[in-house]
Amino acid sequence: MSEVKTSLSESAANLSAYESYHGLTAEAIQRSFLDHLEFTLAKDRFTVTHLDQYLALAYAVRDRLIERWLRTQDTYYRADAKRVYYLSMEFLMGRTLGNAIVNLNLKEECRRALLDLGYRLEDIQETEPDAGLGNGGLGRLAACFLDSMATLALPGYGYGIRYEYGIFNQEIKDGEQVEQPDNWLRYGNPWEIARPEVLYPVHYYGEVVQFPNGNGKIAHKWIKTETVLAMAYDTPIPGYGVQNVNTLRLWSSKASREFDFHHFNEGDYISAVRSKTESETISKVLYPNDNRHSGKELRLKQEYFFVAATLQDIIRRYKKTRKTFDEFPDKVAIQLNDTHPAIAIAELMRIFLDEENIPWEKAWELTQATIAYTNHTVLPEALEKWTVELLGKVLPRHLEIIYDINYHFLRDVRVRYPNNEELVQRVSLVEEPVPGIRPKSIRMANLAIVGSHRVNGVAALHTEILKRDLFRDFALMFPEKFENKTNGITQRRWLACCNPQLASLITEAIGDKWMTDLYEMEKLIPFADDPGFRQAWQKVKQDGKDILIEVVNQTWKHKLRIDKQSLFDCQVKRIHEYKRQLLNLFHAITLYNRLRHQPNLDIVPRTIFFSGKAAPGYRLAKLIIRLINAVADIINHDVVTRDRLRVVFLPNYRVSLAEKIMPGAELSEQISTAGMEASGTGNMKFALNGALTIGTLDGANIEIAEEVGRDNIFIFGLTVEEIAKLKPHYSPWDYFHSDPELNEILNMIGAGYFSPLDKELFHPILFSLLEGGDQYFVLADYRAYVECQERVAQAYLDQDQWTRKSILNTAKMGKFSSDRTIQEYAQSIWRVSPVPVNMVTCEV
Ligand code: IMP
Repeated sequence: MSEVKTSLSESAANLSAYESYHGLTAEAIQRSFLDHLEFTLAKDRFTVTHLDQYLALAYAVRDRLIERWLRTQDTYYRADAKRVYYLSMEFLMGRTLGNAIVNLNLKEECRRALLDLGYRLEDIQETEPDAGLGNGGLGRLAACFLDSMATLALPGYGYGIRYEYGIFNQEIKDGEQVEQPDNWLRYGNPWEIARPEVLYPVHYYGEVVQFPNGNGKIAHKWIKTETVLAMAYDTPIPGYGVQNVNTLRLWSSKASREFDFHHFNEGDYISAVRSKTESETISKVLYPNDNRHSGKELRLKQEYFFVAATLQDIIRRYKKTRKTFDEFPDKVAIQLNDTHPAIAIAELMRIFLDEENIPWEKAWELTQATIAYTNHTVLPEALEKWTVELLGKVLPRHLEIIYDINYHFLRDVRVRYPNNEELVQRVSLVEEPVPGIRPKSIRMANLAIVGSHRVNGVAALHTEILKRDLFRDFALMFPEKFENKTNGITQRRWLACCNPQLASLITEAIGDKWMTDLYEMEKLIPFADDPGFRQAWQKVKQDGKDILIEVVNQTWKHKLRIDKQSLFDCQVKRIHEYKRQLLNLFHAITLYNRLRHQPNLDIVPRTIFFSGKAAPGYRLAKLIIRLINAVADIINHDVVTRDRLRVVFLPNYRVSLAEKIMPGAELSEQISTAGMEASGTGNMKFALNGALTIGTLDGANIEIAEEVGRDNIFIFGLTVEEIAKLKPHYSPWDYFHSDPELNEILNMIGAGYFSPLDKELFHPILFSLLEGGDQYFVLADYRAYVECQERVAQAYLDQDQWTRKSILNTAKMGKFSSDRTIQEYAQSIWRVSPVPVNMVTCEV
């Protein structure tokens, strides 16, 4: 192998000999495709299936990544580069094939290679299952960040869990969400490489013993633990326009011994196998909660599992080139994607203290200088806490270390702020128990803040709320720690891959520099006033709408007629009360009622699309899905709405479905209660694809409005300040009584208009809006929203002006590339520089 590599790098001539086999021409790809069909999959033309075609193409493309991948690692070692480790419980990668083809610039060659054999590239791509190892925004952000790190030639690694089952598949049966397991690995995963040799022990339970270490100090040892093994699976992450291919390393749990021989020898075969199976359940399934902390033992074990394996791997790599830990923060940056991996702070301390015998002060300095933490939410139910009882049972040494961190931290607080025990209570890592109400717990966000050198929010408003409100005490103590890093999306997947027609139109007009510099899109601005360009833009958007209609036809088997000229109004995201799908649905019912009362009313035809999953245990969110489907059923079957109003719920929202929705969307619904959505990234995907936003002043919507200008976005609703003012005396009943259209809607739901067979079915929704106090201000924002939708409809009547705004939205998306976000992290948090890979000059 090394001779092969050496000869390959000897000269460019040899490289081209290599290229002729693993080359980037259509001929070479076709040969590779046919070879894989025959020799990897053992298929011939009589037995080949769609899956075989996909797998053969995936292997052919993967082959073209492997050499670059190995060279990338070698280059990083030679450069003695500082590495960035992005630790995340979730990586919502979606499909890989199309993205790899775009990043390798192989699309035309692949298309030609396959056409020649009678296959269509698009059909083959459709066979790939999504890698759905995430719930939503947080996981998809991690995936976009990997793409940007590779494209920016940054030595970055994603580290997470290789869940055997990703986010559940959602079916809609009789209007209800039914969850089906996502067995995504059933047919194998051609993108991952198993590394059975990269195997680390991860310990749980047991006890801690103390003994004198000989230097007059007390040492600690964690003993009698139960051990599970973590095995690595690597996925290549190719950058665009560079030769760098980074690594996503996901850990899978294996039993530490094939069987428990104790049980086995005693003849208890079943127990022996069961303990093996239990060890392997750790990486079995992703918790399907978005913005909700589950508090379950298995979840804690998952978090520690991937953190412990990852830190062992990081330290192994660091030790290859360093004898002491003095330079650890100069060579290693660790980013915590939310608090889920925050136990890394205690684990790194444990390794430094107990295994490397580094004194406390030094260990703490190294830990803080290495780790940074991203906060993703201000929702109280999402802030992670672990009971002292559970943490002490599963990770007893870590609990001790957390207490020690807290002791040192609170001692400093008391010195800086004497006689302020209330402050001490608030910032403590330990939440004191309230009998009968809450147990004694560890606050993971406080641990993450104290143990990091930087803490960031994910949009300007969100970071302000963190500093002003949620983490106010910490922000006053350590102002230098807090930074904003507004989220972004990768334009490679969210435009080039998912909307090739629009991408081509843009490239014809302004060139393709936007692929790596999204600010280049500003060059589109003059084209917004070019009637010919507007017409071409409109045509591409219409083609996007036609594809979306095709998706609806496949789902409903042509039973649901959609007017292709209607305004495509889309709300696609997790179903959550704070995201306010109900507000959107109430607007749909408002339009319906207006048509019922005045059948000849002239309205702008609309098709309102919803898509999204609800956490299986979130009853109200599931009931909202049911209500959407019930309302859709009534509206779509009433002749009065014909050609004027449709409500569509698209089942099983996932990355690959989002890629079909974005190009066809004209209106993007971003209507969360102000102050609740940390950033949102769907808002950016829609706008990049030319949809106009209707939204509240929340999350990154505010920054989108700043970029595109108030003339090109529809903003409505209460601001954060207005909500804070209203909150103490908010009475949803006032709105119920004073707004006749709103009153009619709520009465219809209450009377069972949408659930004739079970008239009380939707009462819990009414209860939460009225008796429950309407925590998310749906009723308060209803009228402003409906009026804003009227402005939207009015604007849509002038198609020329609408198209102009659409072009300007795309043109002004420069800021929302994840390349910009990652550059900011790299400069001000990680302090890492690009290390570009050169395939020709690099020696092995
Ligand atoms: P890791 O960084 O040890 O996980 O190794 C990843 C890849 O980097 C390996 O598969 C090697 O190709 C390469 N690699 C590992 N160690 C070295 C080294 O010391 N010099 C150059 N390349 C290395």
